[in-house]
Amino acid sequence: MHIDSLHDKFYERYGKEEEPCHTFFAPGRVNLIGEHTDYNGGYVFPCALQYGTYLAVRLNGTDQIHFTTTNFDQPCNVPARGFSRQDTKWVNYPLGVMDQLVKRGFSMKGMDMLFSGDVPNAAGLSSSASIEMVTAVAMNDLYEMQFDMIDLIKVGQKAENEFVGVNCGIMDQFASGLGKTEHAVYLDCATLDYEQVPLILGVYKLVISNTNKRRGLADSKYNERRAECESSVESIARTEPISLLGELSLARFLDLQHLIPEEKIRRRAHHVVSENQRVLDAVKALKESDLVRFGQLMNASHDSLRDDYEVTGRELDTLVEEARKVEGVLGSRMTGAGFGGCTVSLVHKDAIDRFITEVGAAYHAKTGLKPDFYVGEVGNGARKL
Ligand code: GLA
Repeated sequence: MHIDSLHDKFYERYGKEEEPCHTFFAPGRVNLIGEHTDYNGGYVFPCALQYGTYLAVRLNGTDQIHFTTTNFDQPCNVPARGFSRQDTKWVNYPLGVMDQLVKRGFSMKGMDMLFSGDVPNAAGLSSSASIEMVTAVAMNDLYEMQFDMIDLIKVGQKAENEFVGVNCGIMDQFASGLGKTEHAVYLDCATLDYEQVPLILGVYKLVISNTNKRRGLADSKYNERRAECESSVESIARTEPISLLGELSLARFLDLQHLIPEEKIRRRAHHVVSENQRVLDAVKALKESDLVRFGQLMNASHDSLRDDYEVTGRELDTLVEEARKVEGVLGSRMTGAGFGGCTVSLVHKDAIDRFITEVGAAYHAKTGLKPDFYVGEVGNGARKL
């Protein structure tokens, strides 16, 4: 989206006044490896995309906040005090952020806001985190709040947990807030220590493939997995004092896993602990420019999400299987919460056209769905434009 055209649309809707509008952007993300580890105090390795959400905003001198978006015809006005959940669902993301800021002692004034997103919707590429982060960064600037980016990331996550009602971890907001072009973010979700690691892929590109399957049960299954992880911790904690699975090395987990009575729960925990090790190995492989190894770890991650964690499903599995058949593909895995959404594959640049044709045709033949493909360009984190 060109900023001039966003401004034109803003002034068309709200009129031109002395007070200019200010423009902000926050990206969506793709996670390279480290899935369902964030809420277990583990490691993740996502990067920010160039797609994201733009926001043009100005104070309007009234006591009403006007929300509009170029994405759907769903405007909404909310009084600047006493926020409650709205039926206009998309508004709950920015409103949740404002609610958090009010809880931290700030008050909101009337504003005119125009959002515009180019992250594919409901694809598991964190369009919601990008709305939260663009709002957080904009409010921080507009009201001169002096929060640092980590604070704003926590605000974004809490908004989603408490106001939107999705019990997500911190990965998406973190990648959107602190992603950096040509880098991936290696984050320890227990301590929030992070490192922006150069993503030097040479002749390889990240190709994102969208299953275009609706993620029907995603939220309830997500919460179910969280509960299963907690129950595995309870079983282990009777003998070894841990509070999160991320505290266990793979070797230690293998020693202790007999303490978890149910086989299914043992597999869930095995995924988390083994995935954590894969993140460490993948970061090392990337630093050593060993992309073949990186691709193998991506494959192993998907297989573990399919067999141990059971969050893939036929569409994601088919996309990944077909991707791995294409010559020039080093690895392919689901990314995000699962149950639909996208895969990410590491593909030789000369094989991308063939990848799109062959994977697209085979996936369509097997599932009846048409996938979308995007070449993932890594972008910068949330900022004022
Ligand atoms: C969703 C959540 C994240 C993370 C992933 C799975 O994207 O929002 O916090 O848990 O699923 O890795």
